[in-house]
Amino acid sequence: MIHQYDVVIVGAGLAGLRAAVETSQIARTAVLTKVYPSRSHSGAAQGGIAASLGNVDPEDNWEFHMFDTVKGSDYLGDQDAIEYMVKIAPETVIEMEHFGCPFSRTTDGKINQRKFGGHSLNFGEKAVCRSCFSTDYTGHVLLHTLYEQAIKRKVHFFPEFQALHLIVDDNGCQGVAAWDIRNGGLHIFQSRALLFATGGYGRAFKITSNAHANTGDGLALALRAGLPLEDMEFVQFHPTGLWQSGILVTEGARGEGGYLFNGERKRFMENYAPTLMELAPRDLVSRAEQTEIDQGRGIGGKDYVFIDVSHLGKEKIMARLPQITDIARNFAGVDPFKEPIPIQPTAHYSMGGIPADKNCHVWKTKDEQLPGMYAAGECSCISVHGANRLGTNSLLEAVTFGRIAGKSIIKDLPHLEWRELSQNAGRPAEGEVDKLLNSKGKEKTAKIRADLQESMMKRCAVFRNGKDLQAQLDYIKELQERYRYVVIEDKSLKFNTDLMEAIELGHLLDFSEVIVLGALEREECRGAHYRKDFEKDGKGIRDDVNWLKHTLAFRDPDGRIRLDYKPVVITRFQPMERKY
Ligand code: FUM
Repeated sequence: MIHQYDVVIVGAGLAGLRAAVETSQIARTAVLTKVYPSRSHSGAAQGGIAASLGNVDPEDNWEFHMFDTVKGSDYLGDQDAIEYMVKIAPETVIEMEHFGCPFSRTTDGKINQRKFGGHSLNFGEKAVCRSCFSTDYTGHVLLHTLYEQAIKRKVHFFPEFQALHLIVDDNGCQGVAAWDIRNGGLHIFQSRALLFATGGYGRAFKITSNAHANTGDGLALALRAGLPLEDMEFVQFHPTGLWQSGILVTEGARGEGGYLFNGERKRFMENYAPTLMELAPRDLVSRAEQTEIDQGRGIGGKDYVFIDVSHLGKEKIMARLPQITDIARNFAGVDPFKEPIPIQPTAHYSMGGIPADKNCHVWKTKDEQLPGMYAAGECSCISVHGANRLGTNSLLEAVTFGRIAGKSIIKDLPHLEWRELSQNAGRPAEGEVDKLLNSKGKEKTAKIRADLQESMMKRCAVFRNGKDLQAQLDYIKELQERYRYVVIEDKSLKFNTDLMEAIELGHLLDFSEVIVLGALEREECRGAHYRKDFEKDGKGIRDDVNWLKHTLAFRDPDGRIRLDYKPVVITRFQPMERKY
């Protein structure tokens, strides 16, 4: 079946919905999503959305926010894009308030703001309340607010559609082929403008805060279509994932005054970030935790430490952190009013993605764009986070660039013509499904996936080294070979989760190779990428002379990944040593 829409958006998280709210004002807009829209992973973000509103700390301003974001990115963030995002952050948040988002309030009725890691006043002097929040359900309420607005504007939703293949040729992008999960069957969505807002790739790792759906589908489709991926080696580990399950325990818990301690009941952050302590950026706190664990100072010598909020008292915990209270009770069996919560670093956010400019136009090469294709949110790399993202800048990025993508599309639509669709447009997607359904192999999806996730966790997580990365690269090639023989036991077409999981596994294997190759080649420590074999006196070496540049990965027609590099945009802030 072929559908024609002026605008097709893949992904119904904050970026996709915000774009749809914009484009649906003038153009027929369809949103495809592999889950039901209100189950999108943006809803799992807890602690806040950053904007220098100054409601709690009146001195705050966009320039401090820009400095913190650049420094937090370990100077890999593109400063023109960062400036653009932080300057319009207050407007972005106030628009959400006017859409009806129920933010928590200060006693005088303003949007309330709390502290978060790496956000500071006066260029690093002291922590600032910059993260606007709705208890610890911020992502959830933003998502529902935008879904309501999209429904009001009569956006056409196609829930439970899995994107399979990007339709591009030399003249640009013409849409996407997708599988109808509920009924079975291939659909072509032809568009004048296609926006990818498909989210992140945390499911490549065993311990992750990401939903099961976060299998980097958009990235794999882009790579297969010959588009580059940027800075994929930068994967953020959030310091407070619930032990063993990886479920997010918001950084807002530390923003509200919670603290971390090790098996010796010491607040170990005083050894790593004496000024900001628990509110240092995530890369630093995760490394501190992992060091404590690796050196035997985890709780009872095990692979976790504690976060304690009990001293905040029941009333404050219930007012500010109700969700993590439930999560701790239900998934760890502890009562945060009385007991500390066991935590460990968890794969949380993908700094890398589909390269796009600050108007969300996708790059096809280093200097040529792909007409008709846009990217926003976590799947994109506009590079506002560089090598490490600050907490609550992701909700900001998603809403801001969703809105910008919508505006760019509206501006470009008069120049984007309908073109005749090639008769073969659906063939690659059909071929993929047929091959999987008819495979006579013996390999199991779940086993290959577990092998990938465990090995990525072991060799490519908080700490990395060249030997392990090379071993992991070789191992991924083995897993890719095994994947050719994967078998689908359920041959039915309707709601075939066996088939869907096999498709997702193909995506995980494709982009994991890019993560590992990028990490192997990048011989330095920067942000979330820390190479133990590039340390001096126990400190990671950041090599600005050779590595202050973005990685671009292309898949050549012979299937090999080729790396190239492009410069970082530096405007106001020259790279300096990061101290917290
Ligand atoms: O910790 C958190 O609440 C997560 C926020 C974020 O990743 O921005």
